[in-house]
Amino acid sequence: MEKFELDKALAEEIRARVLGEGFMKIVQSVRRNGKTFRISMRPVLIGGEKRFQAEMNDEGQVRVKNFDANGAAEGLEEIIAQKGARDLHLMTASGDLHVRVTRKGHVLVSRSAQMDRVAKVQPHDRAKNLPLAAFDSAALLSVTGISDGDGRVRASMRGKYDQVNEFLKVVEDVVGGNGERETGNGKEFTVVDCGCGKAYLTLALYFYLTQVMKFPAVRVIGVDRREDVISAAQKMAQQLDVSDQVEFVATELSSFDIKNALPDVQKPRVDMVISLHACDTATDEAMAKGVEWGSRYIVSAPYCQHELQKAIGPQSDASFAGVLRHGILRERMCDILTDAFRAMILRILGFKTQVVEFVSPDATARNILLRAEYGAKPGQAGPVSDYLNLRDFWHVTPWLESRLASRLEPLLRRYN
Ligand SMILES: C[S@@+](CC[C@H](N)C(=O)[O-])C[C@H]1O[C@@H](n2cnc3c(N)ncnc32)[C@H](O)[C@@H]1O
Repeated sequence: MEKFELDKALAEEIRARVLGEGFMKIVQSVRRNGKTFRISMRPVLIGGEKRFQAEMNDEGQVRVKNFDANGAAEGLEEIIAQKGARDLHLMTASGDLHVRVTRKGHVLVSRSAQMDRVAKVQPHDRAKNLPLAAFDSAALLSVTGISDGDGRVRASMRGKYDQVNEFLKVVEDVVGGNGERETGNGKEFTVVDCGCGKAYLTLALYFYLTQVMKFPAVRVIGVDRREDVISAAQKMAQQLDVSDQVEFVATELSSFDIKNALPDVQKPRVDMVISLHACDTATDEAMAKGVEWGSRYIVSAPYCQHELQKAIGPQSDASFAGVLRHGILRERMCDILTDAFRAMILRILGFKTQVVEFVSPDATARNILLRAEYGAKPGQAGPVSDYLNLRDFWHVTPWLESRLASRLEPLLRRYN
């Protein structure tokens, strides 16, 4: 027997425990050259079928893959044949097996007393109506850190998990009804995620559009001014093997040029602009870019907005004195006005626009979402007069109006 090798009987016992009834989990940590490589495997139910989910953690680089029984058996052989000092912990309903291989190659084995546990196979797709459960999202959730080593959503990431699910539902609703998925024929569906941060939504949207909505060709570009989140996002895209389709650019949104991001495309066009809690005027900038790029869809959940709070002081309007006196009420009213102005501007520019709640107000007060689809006549009297009435009542110029002045002014002038 070679150094570090497990004897035949022990190897056979491991195979029987993993591939037989009652298997719960196997974890092996190998230490080599001062580094630790950890692999774990557990049974999961995907679409009602039993699969084996393996997670490989190489010094913090995590990869997750699901296998059928044959694939699991092959992977297990690699685990058994691993060289070097290692610890192996194997759990089954009837008890645990510990194997420790020392640096000198001694193999130490211990077995727990007989147990009577219930080996529950966790359904990977427990909540079928959730977008993130409608496809095999194990690798995505693990790599983005939303789930832990056991494939469970981390308590601290529950809010983000819910937000992404709800955002995806809105995207499906906005885009799905249009037969957009049929428009393939070599045409790429391009999405820009403005203020993508750690790319939870950016990556999830790519997988959702391709794997669930079956879009034939999708390109997603995440933009954020923070270099650190962009380089982390690029790494995640590589780990998930989608770096050719999901790209990340570190820049101020206002300096982002779609032509530079798509140098291989002759006439770059954007089909959808999204933003999820992009701070302050970054939401307006995302909307402005969407308008300038001729994007058909704009889906945006705004975050804080301070512009109007500066313009609307406690004394701004005597009729509203009772509201404006209280900081928190003034802040909320300014948030509502900001989003109303945004929605009205998009309507004036020819977008059918809705304002909806996308997550429960219990989860976050930032639960407003604007969904807009191009397709109405720009500059219609109704939206323009609604806008002018509200704007002139408050004597303010919303940031988005200034940003899109060259497009808006001719439309507003007609009725002014
Ligand atoms: C609250 S985080 C949300 C991140 C992500 N969309 C999510 O929901 O997980 C807002 C992100 O927007 C980025 N951001 C804010 N203003 C920006 C700007 N003007 N240009 C580019 N990125 C911006 C920030 O760096 C930050 O990562």
